[in-house]
Amino acid sequence: MKSVTIQQPEKLVIEERSAPQPLPGEVRIRVTCAGICGSDVHIYRGHNPFAKYPRVIGHEFFGLIDAVGEGVEKSRIGERVVGDPVVSCGHCYPCAVGRPNVCAELQVIGVHRDGGFSEYVTLPAKNAHVVPDSIPDNEATMVEPFTIAANICSQMKPGPLDTVLIYGAGPMGLTSIQVLRGVYGVKEIIVADRIDERLSMAKANGADRVINNANSDLKTELDALGIRPTLIIDAACHPSILPEAISLASPAARIGIMGFSSEACVISQQAITSKELTIFSSRLNSNRFPLVISWMTERKIQPEKLITHQFPYTQVLDAMELFEKDQKQCCKVLLKF
Ligand code: NAI
Ligand code: MN
Ligand code: ZN
Repeated sequence: MKSVTIQQPEKLVIEERSAPQPLPGEVRIRVTCAGICGSDVHIYRGHNPFAKYPRVIGHEFFGLIDAVGEGVEKSRIGERVVGDPVVSCGHCYPCAVGRPNVCAELQVIGVHRDGGFSEYVTLPAKNAHVVPDSIPDNEATMVEPFTIAANICSQMKPGPLDTVLIYGAGPMGLTSIQVLRGVYGVKEIIVADRIDERLSMAKANGADRVINNANSDLKTELDALGIRPTLIIDAACHPSILPEAISLASPAARIGIMGFSSEACVISQQAITSKELTIFSSRLNSNRFPLVISWMTERKIQPEKLITHQFPYTQVLDAMELFEKDQKQCCKVLLKF
């Protein structure tokens, strides 16, 4: 089989490998479509602290089950499935309390073990989620990015009284907008980004108001509009954002972060406690695939709006470069196998 492998930082090759055999309890997927994510680029560039090389990247993938390991029903062969990249042990404390996404022995497919930018990938049978025929292949490939938004929203419990501020209108910000609008029905969604084209995408995905904060102070802009966000999601993840979010939040607001920067930022107890703010963090997803698939079935979210480009996997280098360099035009780039 052909696999997109990062042999070492900055060295991406399409390799001939032997197709993996599913272990007991696993299935094998014949991948037909996969999505490029920022973290794939980070592994390629050597900026992901969790990655080990060589690595087949890709954690957003869709295909058909073509083989099953011992103990898995043969009837699963032929199922159309998306893969949940979160592989967990099932018995540690986080697993026991329903948070396998931070399992003590977490293995993320495409990061800690070989991923879905490959003609075949193996994974635990329970990680392969059946997709109804009403959801086309490309949209099914978008389930994983929406699980990130589903996960942070499940924690933050948005509601009709919420005025939401989202930092960043990349794939993470845009999926969050769609979920907040289509599933949770919040009162108002304001989005801040540095790039006008991305703010246009935010509007097309359901934002009520957009603010370009490249050359302006967001707090001043919001104060002038009389807006105090009650729910803030940082989907841009610069370390300067959390202190700003704390300062512009309404009393009793919730703030959600999902960044991985190791850079420090300065926040004070007073700024948080005086308004009794709640700060959530969210990593990957804890069993949110069935939920997102149901949202797609019910058309509460429109994954097709995020797909801007498709390439055959043989052009993966062009695809990765476009994704990395052209934030104005690109949102989700898919690879076809
Ligand atoms: P992206 O890079 O495509 O989008 C980020 C957007 O934020 C860009 O449009 C950029 O212009 C904007 N931005 C940067 N600084 C800003 C600021 N100060 N104010 C307003 N906007 C600003 O990235 P993507 O794929 O949407 O992911 C966003 C972040 O989420 C990344 O840092 C990524 O590491 C993180 N992430 C976290 C996950 C988790 O499970 N916790 C999962 C996936 C991504
Ligand atoms: Mn992703
Ligand atoms: Zn565990």
